[in-house]
Amino acid sequence: MKPVKIGILGLGTVGGGAAVVLQRNAAEIARRAGREIIITRASASDLTKSRLCDTSKMVMTQSGFDIINDPEIDIIIETIGGAGIVKEMVMQAIENGKHVVTANKSLIALHGNEIFAKASEKGVIVAFEAAVAGGIPIIKAIREGLSGNQIEWLAGIINGTGNFILTEMRDKGRDFADVLAEAQALGYAEADPTFDVEGIDAGHKLTILASIAFGIPLQFDKVYTEGITKITRTDVEYAEQLGYRIKSLGIARKTAKGIELRVHPTLIPERRLIANVNGVMNAVLVKGDAVGATLYYGAGAGAEPTGSAVVADVIDVVRALTSDPENRVPHLAFQANALANIPVLASGDFETAYYLRLNAEDKSGVLADVTRILADCDISIEAILQKPPANNETIVPIILLTQVTQEHKLTAAIAKIEQLNTVSGKVNRIRLETLG
Ligand code: HSE
Repeated sequence: MKPVKIGILGLGTVGGGAAVVLQRNAAEIARRAGREIIITRASASDLTKSRLCDTSKMVMTQSGFDIINDPEIDIIIETIGGAGIVKEMVMQAIENGKHVVTANKSLIALHGNEIFAKASEKGVIVAFEAAVAGGIPIIKAIREGLSGNQIEWLAGIINGTGNFILTEMRDKGRDFADVLAEAQALGYAEADPTFDVEGIDAGHKLTILASIAFGIPLQFDKVYTEGITKITRTDVEYAEQLGYRIKSLGIARKTAKGIELRVHPTLIPERRLIANVNGVMNAVLVKGDAVGATLYYGAGAGAEPTGSAVVADVIDVVRALTSDPENRVPHLAFQANALANIPVLASGDFETAYYLRLNAEDKSGVLADVTRILADCDISIEAILQKPPANNETIVPIILLTQVTQEHKLTAAIAKIEQLNTVSGKVNRIRLETLG
C-alpha cells in the first residue's frame, strides 16, 4: 500500500515533537497503522533554524497554504496554535478533502462546532487529542473507553504552567513571576501567558472535555474562569493546616438544573491522589455512573508528550481512511444530530463548599457576628481556624470552611460580612471540592 503523506503546519515545539516521534518510531507505527506514514512537507516561520527532527526529506515552506493546497498530502497536522489565520487554514484543508490532526485547544473550543460541521460535510476527520492534557489520552478515554457511562462530573488539573507555579510557590516559597518566567523558558507556557494564569487555557480544554462528556455543543463563552494570581502563600499555608492543597481545577458537573463549567483555584483534601499532582503534570478525574471515579495522569505539555497524542491521532486517521465516514467515531463523542441543549449554569447557581479568610478585630462577639450572618444566609460551617494576633496586632485572621452551598448565598453573606465594622478589607474566598 502507498505510504500516507503528512504535511505539518508549524514545525515548532509540538509539531517538531510529533515529527521526532513519527520518525523515531516509524517502523512500530507502520505495524500499528498498517501503512507507512511519512512527513513530506512542513511549514515554519524560520526556515534556517536547526531542528531535532530530520527535515532532509521534507519540503520546507513558510506558507502553510502551500501544504494545504498540495494534492499529494493526505493528512495535515496543525501545530501553529491560535485561531485567526489558522482557522482559515484548517477550513481550507477540510474543503480540500484533507484530514486534520490538531493540538489547538483554542481553535477547537472557539470554532469546533463550525469546523466539525464542515468536516462531516466533506467526510473528513478532525482529531484533537493533543488539545487537552498533552500526552494523556483523555479524549479517547472519555469518548471511547467510557462510552457506556453517563458521565456525572470531571475535574482536572489541565494547565501545566499554572500547576507548576502553584507547586513551586508551595514547595519552595518562590515568587509567582519568577516561576512563570521559568515555565516560559521551558516552553510550557502559552504565547500569551495570561491564558495560563487566568484560567483561559484551562477553560478552552474544559470546554472540549465537557462537550465530549455530556454531548453538548462547544461553548467556551459560558465557562466561568478565575485565575491563580490572587492566591497567596498565606492561603496555601492555612489550607495545608486544614488538610487541603490549593490547585487550579477545571470542573464540569451535570446537575439536575444544568451543567456547571468552571475553572478556578480549589482546595482539595490532601489525601486525594489529584491533590498530589505536582509541577507541570496534568491529571483528570472522571466520574461515570457505571465505572465510578477514574483518574488519568501524565505530562500535560512538552514536545514529545504532546507529539505522542498527535501521532496517536494520525494513526487513528490512517486506520479509518478506508472506513465509511458515517460509521466513524463522532468528533464530539455523540452523534452530531444528538447533541443536547442542556443549559450551562450561571456562577450564582454553582454548588460547592468554600474556604473564607477574613481579618477581624480581636474582641468578643466578632466571630458570633460572622457566624450569625452565615446562618442567616443558610450556610453551614464545616471548620473554623482563628490564628493568634501577631505582635501587638489587634487584627486577627479567621479562616472558615463552609459546607456545600449555592454560590449566590455565599456572595450575599460575604457582602454582609464585609460591612461589619469589626472586619477589615475584603473576605478572601476560594472554592473547595472534596471530589469524593
Ligand atoms: N500552556 C499549556 C499548559 C500547554 O501549561 O498546560 C499545554 O496545553
